[in-house]
Amino acid sequence: MSANPKEKVFVIDFGAQYAQLIARRVRECKVYSEIVPYDIPPEEIRSRGASALIFSGGPSSVYQKGAPVPDAGIFKLGLPVLGICYGHQLLARELGGRVEATGIREYGKTGLKVIGDSILFEGVPLEQAVWMSHGDSVVEAPPGFQVTASTGASPVAAMEDLERKFFGVQFHPEVIHTPMGMEVLKNFLFSAADLLPSWTMVSIIEKAVEDIRAQVGNEKIICGLSGGVDSATAAVLVHKAVGDQLTCVFVDHGLLRKGEAEQVEDKFRRHFHMNLIHVKAQDRFLSRLKGVTDPEAKRKIIGEEFIRVFEEVARELKDTHFLVQGTLYPDIIESGTRDAAVIKSHHNVGGLPEDMDFTLVEPLRDLFKDEVRVMGEELGLPEEIVWRQPFPGPGLAIRIIGEVTAEKLDILREADDIVVGEIKRAGLYREIWQSFAVLPDIRSVGVMGDERTYAYPIIVRAVTSEDAMTADWARLPYEVMERISSRIINEVRGVNRVALDISSKPPATIEWE
Ligand code: XMP
Repeated sequence: MSANPKEKVFVIDFGAQYAQLIARRVRECKVYSEIVPYDIPPEEIRSRGASALIFSGGPSSVYQKGAPVPDAGIFKLGLPVLGICYGHQLLARELGGRVEATGIREYGKTGLKVIGDSILFEGVPLEQAVWMSHGDSVVEAPPGFQVTASTGASPVAAMEDLERKFFGVQFHPEVIHTPMGMEVLKNFLFSAADLLPSWTMVSIIEKAVEDIRAQVGNEKIICGLSGGVDSATAAVLVHKAVGDQLTCVFVDHGLLRKGEAEQVEDKFRRHFHMNLIHVKAQDRFLSRLKGVTDPEAKRKIIGEEFIRVFEEVARELKDTHFLVQGTLYPDIIESGTRDAAVIKSHHNVGGLPEDMDFTLVEPLRDLFKDEVRVMGEELGLPEEIVWRQPFPGPGLAIRIIGEVTAEKLDILREADDIVVGEIKRAGLYREIWQSFAVLPDIRSVGVMGDERTYAYPIIVRAVTSEDAMTADWARLPYEVMERISSRIINEVRGVNRVALDISSKPPATIEWE
């Protein structure tokens, strides 16, 4: 689906660390936004109905050979443009100004002085702190532009051409270290570009329902339900669109957390009156995983087996060719091309086979996780589902390093239940993005009572994050760590040691495999 709202802002991506953050901030202003590559043809920008453009920052210098430059036709579309950092320098250079490597780098908090009247700085203090990260500087604005702000090292820290509605800022309005950043963005969206804050959850749901109906028609459709917020929201949304044409399939692959299968079945049967099939496939998955130690191989096997189960269910239901996936916008961004029709391996269940018989319906593909949560709430999903921490499709299999066995699954399930239980008890469950246990493929010596033990350690992983693209290890209080550690060692047989993972993403990932 495409959200296809009336007004959309394209973030032209010049390789920025922050392109995604810019799109999120625009959406927080209730204007739909998506990220497009810098070499997008101007005709496509027009045909896809962009209302305004934001040029992102980027790691290059505008003078570097091969530095990304958009088609010059982009400036003739008559659309308002806001250039940020590299985008600001690019505007300056492409439109006849001067950019120089002044030798003075500005990095971090910098004092900015607003000069004269300016739409972008309307209502913000004349002197403010902004966040900078650049080596080159615009030293002369192009013809038609007014300089509207400067800093110690950037004579043209902001500029605007009101006639063409072109704006440039050297600083980053999208990061929280620029306190007035959102004001500047809003001024661009609502005063300069004349957009309206009309992209609300109700309008998103209405449009999504329309799109699903258009795609599915009168056909039958199945939806894999994992119990997580994405698949649950996707299921409820599709049910709203096509009612009983939908059958939800909950596959218990035996790699779930403690009590999870019962909870999911109970929640869905009780709260939502949908067709639900519960497939108990523990043995089947476990036997296919026997002897497999390579992480990617595990993912592929699990992804493939999921699809085989769905295909079998679809055959029984007859004439069912559509499969709902809770793919989110970050998956699309990570897979590189927004309009890639077929499946990429890291989508929801990980490693889907290429020869599958389904057409995918991905009603959440334009949304970030926090937006999905708002949608889930709006659709009436219970809090335990909406605020459930993310859990990967391949489940505990990618948290057991090495071969997955029934014995290891039992150990990990018990340990994981303690980690999550203690995090909840400490009131930290919502503010922590994910918290779980990992079972590595090593053992160490310990002493219990007077006995020597030779048993597994459990690694505790807890991270904070906004969208799983980056993450930091959560600073858990010592008392919480102490309870987790002593309970796991005392209560979980086969474990004699607890360690804490204190790695951020990047360079580590959230999951261990
Ligand atoms: P990583 O480990 O790459 O994970 O930092 C980022 C986020 O994605 C989740 N994840 C998955 N989710 N199927 C899923 O549905 C998968 O195959 C998969 N692999 C990782 C992970 O839990 C984290 O939230």
